[in-house]
Amino acid sequence: MLRFNLIVAVCENFGIGIKGDLPWRIKSELKYFSRTTKRTSDPTKHNAVVMGRKTYFGVPESKRPLPDRLNIVLSTTLQESDLPKGVLLCPNLETAMKILEEQNEVENIWIVGGSGVYEEAMASPRCHRLYITKIMQKFDCDTFFPAIPDSFREVAPDSDMPLGVQEENGIKFEYKVLEKQS
Ligand SMILES: NC(=O)c1ccc[n+]([C@@H]2O[C@H](COP(=O)([O-])OP(=O)(O)OC[C@H]3O[C@@H](n4cnc5c(N)ncnc54)[C@H](OP(=O)(O)O)[C@@H]3O)[C@@H](O)[C@H]2O)c1
Repeated sequence: MLRFNLIVAVCENFGIGIKGDLPWRIKSELKYFSRTTKRTSDPTKHNAVVMGRKTYFGVPESKRPLPDRLNIVLSTTLQESDLPKGVLLCPNLETAMKILEEQNEVENIWIVGGSGVYEEAMASPRCHRLYITKIMQKFDCDTFFPAIPDSFREVAPDSDMPLGVQEENGIKFEYKVLEKQS
């Protein structure tokens, strides 16, 4: 069974977004997101990022589709012509996974939000790890991260992850990894 990981930055009040955007500006965290979702062990392969319609259009126009990754947008209302060439439109997460199962250019699949997509992803037997940036501050938010199922437990971070509490512009945050226990 093809598995995926999830990546999210979440603040103390469990918020992830406001008015279609991120509630904070942390450049080093965006770089971490980019590095992590691009990383492959096979240099001939690339990764896929799977996201809801609002997350895709929340990315600044000049920065989407997210480069060097297959962008998959989940939507029941968009037409293929609403998206640039190369971006895959899927009516649901399982359809996206079935399409990915039939090709072998993609090494890792990253679920990158938003709220409903994260919830569906964490409930799926395909979900392996959660890469969570814990932002140690409260922010005004209108979109929230769903409850994490009890089956996920914190594990040691990857060797290339920054360890311990990080800080940028007075905002403290920490990178964590949770893995589904079998
Ligand atoms: N902090 C973080 O790490 C992080 C990560 C991602 C996003 N965000 C923030 O979160 C906000 C966006 O998230 P959101 O929860 O509001 O919206 P979203 O999940 O990005 O988009 C919701 C839309 O996506 C489509 N969709 C979602 N799940 C689907 C499914 N299983 N099958 C088919 N279509 C599906 C639907 O589109 P249709 O209505 O077209 O059917 C739905 O209306 C923004 O503020 C963004 O900046 C933060």
